[in-house]
Amino acid sequence: MSRPKVLLSRRWPEAVETALAARYDVTFNTDDRPLDTAAFREAMMTHDAILPTVTDALGPAVFDGIEAPRCRVLANYGVGFSHIDTEAAGRLGIVVTNTPDVLSDCTADIAMTLLLMAARRAGEGEREVRAGHWSGWRPTHLLGTKVTGKTLGIVGFGRIGQEMARRAHHGFGMRILVQNRSAVAPGTLAACGARQVDSLEALMPECDFVSLHCPGGAANRHLLNAARLALAKPRAILINTARGEVVDEAALVGAIHAGQLGGAGLDVFDGEPEVSPELLDCPDIVVLPHLGSATRETREAMGFRALENLAAALDGHTPPDRVA
Ligand code: DGY
Repeated sequence: MSRPKVLLSRRWPEAVETALAARYDVTFNTDDRPLDTAAFREAMMTHDAILPTVTDALGPAVFDGIEAPRCRVLANYGVGFSHIDTEAAGRLGIVVTNTPDVLSDCTADIAMTLLLMAARRAGEGEREVRAGHWSGWRPTHLLGTKVTGKTLGIVGFGRIGQEMARRAHHGFGMRILVQNRSAVAPGTLAACGARQVDSLEALMPECDFVSLHCPGGAANRHLLNAARLALAKPRAILINTARGEVVDEAALVGAIHAGQLGGAGLDVFDGEPEVSPELLDCPDIVVLPHLGSATRETREAMGFRALENLAAALDGHTPPDRVA
């Protein structure tokens, strides 16, 4: 019997690719560059499954006009799936899955890294030393803001938001405020000393730091817009490890230049890998190249989790991480 044919959109850690190839007839993207719409449309008709990731635009154009695809499952490598038109996939009977849990620790670590770097001006300091411009210790050199005991607002209290809250509360004695679309169980809030507020408007004025952990996509596009950024506590710092489109980047730069915000730490960008020159020109913004889940352990775990979902779907079972 012939083996199911699956398309792997990018190169994955070797151990996972080996496991995948042992079970399926795998088409590898040897260039390891994002595939275009035409390639995905073709794969819809020629493969039983596609394993895409965040760099793949699987919007309406990939599904338009397609009838009776061979593809039965999109097993996404990553937790966020706003790059996939899940409605269109659903109409064609294609199951969509993601890889939650396994990347929560590492993504929260990067959010905390950005928070500390932005608060303590670590990016500026590093650039200064490397450029040979450091003239030595002095009492007023590169003064940042203290983190311990400050208030952190968390927008989106899923697994990653909760891990961020745990780190901030237990590691740095921070007070935690949470804004989430649904009510969070009291025990979950209590585990990290958090209190839920009912709107961003209530959260912004109280927080020294605001960290975004909500999904991307059209519904949350520019959730942090000029009006909401204007509500921030003076000199507050914004951290984004969620999706670039959640923040109006022009408004963010404007708020920093106006002295309303003290800075930002960004791991994700609207239209990445392009990064707007205004963000790069702003010394108060720390930028990282979407490193949230980038550890060897996590990227392997994501692969094996995607594999579990793939196997379940192709075997006719409900995959553990079905999202659509
Ligand atoms: C995700 O999982 O959605 C990340 O952004 C990619 O690791």
